[in-house]
Amino acid sequence: MVTAVAQRLAAQRREINDTLARLSLSSENLQQVKDKMRVELERGLRKDSHSTASVKMLPSFVYRTPNGTERGKYLALDLGGTNFRVLVVKIRSGIRKSVRMYNKIYAIPLEIMQGTGEELFDHIVQCISDFLDYMGMKNTRLPLGFTFSFPCRQTGIDKGSLVSWTKGFKATDCEGNDVVEMLREAIKRRNEFDLDIVAVVNDTVGTMMTCAYEDPKCEIGLIAGTGSNVCYMEEMRNIEMVEGDEGQMCVNTEWGGFGENDCIEDIRTRFDREVDEGSLNNGKQRFEKMTSGMYLGEIVRQILIDLTRRGLLFRVNTPQVYKNIKCVTPLSPPSDRLALLQVRAILQQLGLDSTCDDSIIVKEVCGTVSRRAAQLCGAGMAAIVDKIRENRGRNQMNITVGVDGTLYKLHPHFSRILKDTVKALAPQCDVEFVLSEDGSGKGAALITAVIDKYLYAMRLSDETLMDIMKRFRRELGNGLCSDTNPTATVKMLPTFVRSIPDGSEKGDFIALDLGGSAFRILRVKVSHEKKQTVQMESQIYDTPEDIIHGSGTRLFDHVAECLGDFMEKQNIKDKKLSVGFTFSFPCAQTKLNESYLLTWTKRFKASGVEGMDIVTLLNKAIKKRGVDIMAVVNDTVGTMMTCGFDDQRCEVGIIIGTGTNACYMEELRHIDLVEGDEGRMCINTEWGAFGDDGMLEDIRTEFDREIDRGSLNPGKQLFEKMVSGMYIGELVRLILVKMAKEGFLFEGRITPELLTKGKFETKHVSSIEKSKEGLTKAKDILGRLGMEPSADDCIAVQHICTIVSHRSANLIAATLGGILSRLKDNKGNPRLRTTVGIDGSLYKMHPYARRLHKTVRRLVPESDVRFLLSESGSSKGAAMVTAVAYRLLTRVV
Ligand code: BG6
Ligand code: BG6
Ligand code: GLC
Ligand code: GLC
Repeated sequence: MVTAVAQRLAAQRREINDTLARLSLSSENLQQVKDKMRVELERGLRKDSHSTASVKMLPSFVYRTPNGTERGKYLALDLGGTNFRVLVVKIRSGIRKSVRMYNKIYAIPLEIMQGTGEELFDHIVQCISDFLDYMGMKNTRLPLGFTFSFPCRQTGIDKGSLVSWTKGFKATDCEGNDVVEMLREAIKRRNEFDLDIVAVVNDTVGTMMTCAYEDPKCEIGLIAGTGSNVCYMEEMRNIEMVEGDEGQMCVNTEWGGFGENDCIEDIRTRFDREVDEGSLNNGKQRFEKMTSGMYLGEIVRQILIDLTRRGLLFRVNTPQVYKNIKCVTPLSPPSDRLALLQVRAILQQLGLDSTCDDSIIVKEVCGTVSRRAAQLCGAGMAAIVDKIRENRGRNQMNITVGVDGTLYKLHPHFSRILKDTVKALAPQCDVEFVLSEDGSGKGAALITAVIDKYLYAMRLSDETLMDIMKRFRRELGNGLCSDTNPTATVKMLPTFVRSIPDGSEKGDFIALDLGGSAFRILRVKVSHEKKQTVQMESQIYDTPEDIIHGSGTRLFDHVAECLGDFMEKQNIKDKKLSVGFTFSFPCAQTKLNESYLLTWTKRFKASGVEGMDIVTLLNKAIKKRGVDIMAVVNDTVGTMMTCGFDDQRCEVGIIIGTGTNACYMEELRHIDLVEGDEGRMCINTEWGAFGDDGMLEDIRTEFDREIDRGSLNPGKQLFEKMVSGMYIGELVRLILVKMAKEGFLFEGRITPELLTKGKFETKHVSSIEKSKEGLTKAKDILGRLGMEPSADDCIAVQHICTIVSHRSANLIAATLGGILSRLKDNKGNPRLRTTVGIDGSLYKMHPYARRLHKTVRRLVPESDVRFLLSESGSSKGAAMVTAVAYRLLTRVV
């Protein structure tokens, strides 16, 4: 009797052992898995076999791991693991190098994971919206890195079409579509906030980057979680699906698909097939279904059902309990008594009464299934590390794998078995596994930062702008005060213009307008029949480069010649007319018609003029042609006067054109350099020189420095060089070149034209910015430079243009804010009501004005500012000044 029972038990034991033996892999089995994995890796990389390879080897367009110079504030999404997370990641570089993260986990209900694509992305955007509210960041347009943990065919860092859903997702209308585009559209549909989606990355890539931030040897990312996957840094020359042979790129292997071509059928069991058949993606992700957290419990369940059916387990339970055995967490090996009690408790929760033997068997099953998973991952990893080692032609290699995933983190033995297997199968590699503590969102933000490295510094928060506004206000004060004026960068030049037009001006004048993008001569007739009216006729004259860069005498002779020509054409050769001279450069004036050029700016550099009175120089050149130079005005002053003619409230004039500058009406009692305390005088700030003392170094970028080095006046007009029309196009060009060199644009190709200074103009920037036709424009403009930009390149170029011109508008808003807040304080009113006269080609371009107005209103909320575009240039204003000067003069005479 006893022997019969013992024999039966022994037979049962053998049956159980036989069943589990099929799940136990020998070292030959594992060696074969490694070898086959290697074959599939190579097939995935090669063009001719890529389409049929089961390991897809998807290019990630991540070319390098972080180097610690990344910084900025980013938003990240982390979708596809156990949790959906929205994060904000703040990265600091330098000695204070650090990463701070805030995140919130959101649920994705099953009906959304498996509903329509639109519902899924709307849900994601709703979670982002909630998060931005929670963080109080709705109004800041942040760059976003998107960890999307599914296979995506990428054509750029911010473009990826979903190959197929894996794991528990199955939303309709997504496969084959670009996930970034779907996210953008959902953001548009919600129409509540704006984000720059800079990068889409797989979780393996995000994990590798997270770990590489701490350990530069980390060149592999492994996820052993809900799903299973690996990425690593591959040599570009081996990635046939991407052009170019230089350097490296991270490849997302998608090894979960390994075996889809039946190459591991010899080790798959009927349990694996059952799991596969019951899954959302039958036939797919076969390796993943043997190795990852989403399926291990299911394999165990299939085995337990089988054993129960065969009368080897749970004999006290009825067959209905089969369905209760849902998910069994893999547990520790049988030796440990506590664990056995745990097994019983878990089974109890599932409504299963177990005997002691039952728990031992269940535990063995779990151990076998998870051991196999860890060994398979180890074999795959051995193939990867050996490939990297061979790529580098090395006998021995040290390398770090960044790992994440609940299976790796929570399972008591998975990581040890994995490591042992790698050691056994790849003895020439010393592989260290580092757990990613911060998830892949940090890595996604770092990738975003690597790309944004060039642009991040150009995005200025309102906080920074406020700070710049304060600095500028301090400079205004320094420039006005006689003690500090000599060292002040913002020169605050008195103009001797004491009021805006009062409507009584009249006469017939000539106006010269030199220093903007065009040299103009005009005749301005101001008459007074009932109403003051102004008639103007003008002609544009060339100012060839050899003249503006030649001798001063030649320059003024040229001006005089053009003037002679104009007078002849106007038939006023013999008339004695007063001339108003808009001379758009910084001049120290002692009176209206005595004006010493301090320094050339912008494109001008004629010799022998700096330090001279330009009225004397011009008079010499025109040899008393019967004209009298009554007044010299800066273009900002001319513009303020022109606008003041229509709007009495106008007390600020700004130019955002070739150069940039502003003037405004200051209280005379604050102007130390001019005697008298009553009334006001217009001050030409010459704000273009703001920052020449290093005050703006924290916000200047490497591109700003390069522009400065290549300019006619290095070290000078540093603010102007960050914002004005003469430099914006060149700034964009430098960024394009740099990004192309680093492989982020144009597949790394650069034509000699694009390398030529000045080939990318400011007017191009604004036409590319237009949302509709901008992308076609980008293609045209770059095409003319011999480039062949892809659709992604065009989007990136548009992005760069927007950021550069946005920065310009923001910075000008800050300095203008400084002037406005000073005006408000001067007046002592709680609210400022004023008009700003504006001119300049950059201001008139596409969305520039709107951006400027919006930012000014945010920075100086206690003001009502009217922005008035000067329709007729600065000359009408110059004529007004001349009229006043003439009246004063004739009164004196
Ligand atoms: C998280 C990462 O830590 O791990 C995710 O941030 C990743 O990007 C996940 O997908 C993988 O693990 P699991 O177990 O959540 O699938
Ligand atoms: C013109 C003014 O309208 O604008 C000039 O008449 C001024 O005096 C110019 O210099 C500034 O803009 P830009 O773009 O020509 O430098
Ligand atoms: C699945 C996905 C893969 C992801 C992995 C880990 O295998 O296809 O993209 O990396 O799960 O989350
Ligand atoms: C430069 C000049 C300044 C002028 C401005 C706009 O900054 O120095 O005088 O107003 O350009 O043309």
